[in-house]
Amino acid sequence: MRKRWMIACLFASLGVSAAPAWAESGEMMFNEYCVGCHQVGGTGVPGEYPRLAGRVNKIASDPRGRTFLAELMLTGMSGTITVDSRKILGIMPNFDDLKDEELAAILNYVVHLEGGKGPAFTPQILEKARTGPKVTPEGMAETRNSLAGARVIP
Ligand code: HEC
Repeated sequence: MRKRWMIACLFASLGVSAAPAWAESGEMMFNEYCVGCHQVGGTGVPGEYPRLAGRVNKIASDPRGRTFLAELMLTGMSGTITVDSRKILGIMPNFDDLKDEELAAILNYVVHLEGGKGPAFTPQILEKARTGPKVTPEGMAETRNSLAGARVIP
């Protein structure tokens, strides 16, 4: 397992890979930047960190959800939300220091955690969010809760 991982890293760094470029790098970056809170495979921690597996694919199936996810990566979020019938009052950091391609790869990995079709994210979606109107982390939570009301976010 460890050996396969090292070989995957080596091939990724050489830019040679059988899988789509985003698939391996998305998983590696998820395990570097997101896993500490959202857990391996995006299972989350009830009442603390949202479950991503099986939810983000649904969010990304709606264009409003895709825009929300792109803005979330660049802005972060702060406010009370409800996930799996449990309230969460947490702070999601922003990752605006990562490149558009990297953020798209991470989001595509998360979408694919449970049966999502894709790739749903292109670097262009991130670029558009980056150059669009600035949102605050509190504003993100308001947007998120209205999308939950509209059943875009489960
Ligand atoms: C320091 C902990 C932490 C890290 C690291 C983190 N998150 Fe989060 N994330 C949170 C918290 C807490 C929330 C909920 C924020 C709130 O309560 O407003 C959240 C919310 C989210 C949501 C929205 C879920 C929903 O139902 O609205 C997504 C998607 C998400 N994170 C993806 C990611 C990805 C992808 C990464 C890595 C690039 C990441 N997070 C890194 C803590 C974290």
